[in-house]
Amino acid sequence: MRDPAENRALLQAADAFARARLSDKRYGHTVRVADTAESLARKHGLDPDRARLAALLHDAAREREPEEFIRLAEEWNLHIGVPERESPKLLHGPVAAELGRRELGVEDREVLEAVRVHTVGAAGIGQIALALYVADKIEPARDYPSVGRIRELAQQDLREAATEALRRVVAHNEERDRPIHPASRAMLEWLEQTEGAAHRRM
Ligand SMILES: [Fe+2]
Ligand SMILES: [Fe+2]
Repeated sequence: MRDPAENRALLQAADAFARARLSDKRYGHTVRVADTAESLARKHGLDPDRARLAALLHDAAREREPEEFIRLAEEWNLHIGVPERESPKLLHGPVAAELGRRELGVEDREVLEAVRVHTVGAAGIGQIALALYVADKIEPARDYPSVGRIRELAQQDLREAATEALRRVVAHNEERDRPIHPASRAMLEWLEQTEGAAHRRM
């Protein structure tokens, strides 16, 4: 994304794309995530337009039926793991990324990655994906006990904010005896390991 007029046109198209596919409630969430991701990007030296684009697309496929997630994922050869078979809505990120690529012509790999992994995370993801992951967890309407702490961390360090958010996901699911997605575990391990390595280098 370089040419400002092209950026604006793509952002408008992504906004209309989400608006046409979502209830008022979820579109409201989408816009709040977009504003949050854009501001996190500015704060951390990332491209705000790329962060906003990823956020506008992230939940655009969310309001489809479970069978449709499976059908589209199969048609497009997207990976369907055991958790996704059990809970097809976990595929709304990968399906939205593919829709963005096919229908809006988005080619930016980091933007597509961010959309694809926003629900359960992944190890080794890029900065735009981290910004979206965190923005989705802290947009202004989010309200849960540790959100204030994660909001504070997000102003300082996206990785620390994501680590805290993932620890909460793990604790929350463990309390309820719910399985933790292997990609979330892998992302948390990755963040904790590279955190340790970052400190050792200092
Ligand atoms: Fe989502
Ligand atoms: Fe979301």
